[in-house]
Amino acid sequence: MLNLAVLVSGSGSNLQAMLDRKAQGLLDVDFRLVLSNKADAYGLERARAAGVPALAIDHRQFPDREAFDAAMVAAIRDHGADTVALAGFMRLLTPTFLNAFPGRVLNIHPALLPSFPGARGQRDAAAYGVTIAGCTVHLVDEQMDHGPIIIQAAVPVPPGADGEALAARILTWEHRIYPQALQWLAQDRLRLDGRHVRIHGPAATPATPGDALVHPPLEPGF
Ligand code: GAR
Repeated sequence: MLNLAVLVSGSGSNLQAMLDRKAQGLLDVDFRLVLSNKADAYGLERARAAGVPALAIDHRQFPDREAFDAAMVAAIRDHGADTVALAGFMRLLTPTFLNAFPGRVLNIHPALLPSFPGARGQRDAAAYGVTIAGCTVHLVDEQMDHGPIIIQAAVPVPPGADGEALAARILTWEHRIYPQALQWLAQDRLRLDGRHVRIHGPAATPATPGDALVHPPLEPGF
């Protein structure tokens, strides 16, 4: 069982996908805390509706990023979480935060890393004119959108799709790969080999999941 804190800054649809997978019995996660730097983040509402403790810590109240991160670490520990999922959390984390949960901070990014890091991955990909876009779940290190990759979904870009349409299409795949990555972590099946993440145990049979290529393959239910 993972004792998880989820960090959100906005809608929290990825958080919702995790809560839904847990309700389906597919995700061995104890949601200890949902934390946001924004008091009006809808993700906090989703947490409360699911009976998960929800807390806002306004980053603007702190003199620097280290002080903000130290306050978040204290809150996460107070709630008994030892693993952190960033789900649309739009603040960069310092070593103060990452060293508190070594190897146990995950992020989702709406692009096929290492392409299009940053705050506007889908829009940058659409503007660039790629024909295949996607999303990535990875372990977080000290560089932005950089750590070892756990799972990616490649999503064809419909002709003429703008950034918004592409973002919506990618988001549906985010909702599938993020709970899967967390479940592998919950099952203690992730092994790190340099930059490479290996999934320990028998691989799922590659499916043809709609219009995306997901690798490693999703397991039944995800
Ligand atoms: C998601 O598309 C996520 O990948 C992205 O923010 C959105 C949050 O949506 N994150 C980043 O761009 C991080 N660089 P949500 O709040 O509905 O889960």
